[in-house]
Amino acid sequence: MKIAQAKIKQILLDGSLWLDCPSDLIPAPGQYVLAHKPASDAPLPVSLFNIDFNSNGFRCAPPIPLDWKPSDVITLRGVFGQGFSIPASAKKIALIAYEKSYARLQALIPLALKQNAEVVVVSDTKEIDVPEIIEIQPMQLLGEVLSWANYVAIDIARENLNQLKEKLLEQNQASPKYEAQVLIHTSMPCGGVAECAVCALTLNHEWRMICKEGPVFRLQDVL
Ligand code: FES
Repeated sequence: MKIAQAKIKQILLDGSLWLDCPSDLIPAPGQYVLAHKPASDAPLPVSLFNIDFNSNGFRCAPPIPLDWKPSDVITLRGVFGQGFSIPASAKKIALIAYEKSYARLQALIPLALKQNAEVVVVSDTKEIDVPEIIEIQPMQLLGEVLSWANYVAIDIARENLNQLKEKLLEQNQASPKYEAQVLIHTSMPCGGVAECAVCALTLNHEWRMICKEGPVFRLQDVL
């Protein structure tokens, strides 16, 4: 695990921010780093996911703490967790944002386009910022998109997992034929280092730590 200082370069209107940091603290899609502002009253670090990156750092998905401002220096630790991996054969890719923002899935778009895949984002959020080539569909058409896709990435909060299961059952997708991964997000204050169990999840009657064994899991293991 690496620890380093990072500087907030810019805060954007959508609530994301650009951080200047060493390149080995830039998380791959689905992985995260833990961040803490030394001068802050907040007792716990927050997990930051990558939307985009360049040679100087990366753009973090919202939400970010309200007291973070441009030029603030924060401490980063990481990189933690298991990220997404798009199969090289995937040519029809669905990104399903179960929550309001699809930002934690956004870093998959350049990877998908690089392997000449078609990409559909499924979300009920208005005014999603995607390249023109990307199609956007409402959650109402989830079943159709799942029948079309051969790789699916989902972003969902831990507390909404049961809703997702019910929705997939409704769509006859409880035993999916496509490759699918799900990013389960929740508070992950220690990244597995202190085994605090704040991020625990029961899967098949066993406790799993989202921070370490996830946050990206195979959908089949979660259903
Ligand atoms: S965040 Fe502490 S064990 Fe997962």
